[in-house]
Amino acid sequence: MNIRDLLTERARQAMTRVGIPADTNPAVTQSTRPEFGDYQINGAMGAAKALKKNPREVAQQIIDALDLSDLAASTEIAGPGFINVKLKPEWLAEQLTLAAADTRLGVSLNTAPNTVVVDYSAPNLAKEMHVGHLRSTIIGDAVARSLEFWGDKVIRHNHIGDWGTQFGMLIAHLEDQLAEGVDLEGVALADLEDFYRAAKKHFDDDEAFADKSRNYVVRLQSGDAHVLKLWQLFINASVKHSEEVYEKLNVSLTRADLRGESAYNDMLPGIVQRLQEKGLAEESDGAQVVFLQELADKDDNPSVFIVQKRGGGFLYSTTDLAACEYRSVTLGADRIIIFTDARQGLHFKQVELVARKAGFLRDDSTYEHCPFGTMMGSDGKPFKTRTGGTVKLAELLDEAVTRARNVIAEKTSDLSADEIDEVARKVGIGAVKFADLSKHRTSDYVFNWDAMLSFEGATAPYLQYAYTRIRSILRRAELTDAFNAPIVINEDAEKQLALAVLRFEEALQLVMREATPHVLCGYLYDLASRFMTFYEACPMLKDGIAPEVRDSRLMQSVVVARLLKQGLELLGIEVMERM
Ligand code: ARG
Repeated sequence: MNIRDLLTERARQAMTRVGIPADTNPAVTQSTRPEFGDYQINGAMGAAKALKKNPREVAQQIIDALDLSDLAASTEIAGPGFINVKLKPEWLAEQLTLAAADTRLGVSLNTAPNTVVVDYSAPNLAKEMHVGHLRSTIIGDAVARSLEFWGDKVIRHNHIGDWGTQFGMLIAHLEDQLAEGVDLEGVALADLEDFYRAAKKHFDDDEAFADKSRNYVVRLQSGDAHVLKLWQLFINASVKHSEEVYEKLNVSLTRADLRGESAYNDMLPGIVQRLQEKGLAEESDGAQVVFLQELADKDDNPSVFIVQKRGGGFLYSTTDLAACEYRSVTLGADRIIIFTDARQGLHFKQVELVARKAGFLRDDSTYEHCPFGTMMGSDGKPFKTRTGGTVKLAELLDEAVTRARNVIAEKTSDLSADEIDEVARKVGIGAVKFADLSKHRTSDYVFNWDAMLSFEGATAPYLQYAYTRIRSILRRAELTDAFNAPIVINEDAEKQLALAVLRFEEALQLVMREATPHVLCGYLYDLASRFMTFYEACPMLKDGIAPEVRDSRLMQSVVVARLLKQGLELLGIEVMERM
């Protein structure tokens, strides 16, 4: 059910009937205030401008031709030519009843599924995951889950940084450590940061070791079995670190989704060769370069995109061109969506431009780099540890759970120790995720423990609490899972709640189109808030309530609980029965 689409369709028909060109946007929106009705049709203004007519007159013509008798209680002109539509409570009750009977809660299933590659998380394996990877991981995961729910064929690509010169040094150091009898996972790679630092020091202090490291890079790239084996050991250990984080974070990435830089190694010489043949790449200072006049700076100097270094090495950019071809041509992706921080913006513009010119991207594949802002500390600078180091993600998540446990301990509860563990985990992780996901993707935001763990405002604990509250009402009412009752709408709070439920698909559409999970966060917060208002205004378990009113309200509550659970699940946030 998508009320906005339905009204758009009806408005379009009316506009055609009165001779407005078919390409005029009916511009249907949700009303921003209750006095403007439930939805607004704003297309009369645009149409009037094109036809050089009075907008209020055009609005009246549209209203006269508009057939909304089944669903609207009133349609009124307001201001310069807005059409305010108020929906009938009976119609909303009917739609809500249909949604209640549907496992998808009334969200239609995509009838023309797209193949979508979602590239997210993608840590560099030389080091441990840090907070910078949090945003890519959870935003990408929420978008992937939403697309999947809608019915698209989603291919997750974890484009890990598992290739490149630094691995020469790391595996040479690993070999030394193993020769000294150091236990691989127990000691050597337990802390990747320490390992990296030690390897780097070894490299800087010992010329022979540095030579060996450089030699290992060459041998790695040419497929030398001994070096590959060491590399694989290192990669496995590092991937395990990421998997621990995914597990903690409740992120849906698995080993099968790994498709790192190394996977494209064999394609790279061919990529550069074809760029040369097509006259796109040329030699400059011994390197192979594509000059892009389209992205010239203000002095008209073309943007420089290096695809092969002097000496023959390939780069991050070459790999991304190969990934384009694999995703678009081999996998047939209709959409390619990539989540990284905003600093990589130019890189992806260059990749897309070159890939399109070279035919590595089909015309009907989109290439969507979705950047995100920086997570800031309370000092307004990028989030760091007290001593200025990078914050390890695993440690941050453990702290979230500890803090959530403290918050919960302050409340009186009859939960068992095991239940407290579970609630602390779900609330702590949920709080970190929701705080991040609820900010507009492209803005920087300040990381604040107290705000994210608060039970007031748009937070995970608030939504999780709303869910447990509904579940507790349903338990008290002693409903079985099979409970089913007709929904009737009399009170305004009932109507506002029904309207919110029926807007789920509208929110999802935006999330999927713009890759912006904050829309879903805002939607769920609005839904929970409307439930709280409904709960105050419309008693369910008090004496003297007519049984059909009581059952209708309980039925509405059942739907809201299911929707909160489903919506949070798309964000990768878990709910619980009590807290
Ligand atoms: N490993 C990169 C980083 O940590 C992100 C990779 C994103 N995906 C891509 N196709 N380049 O910055």
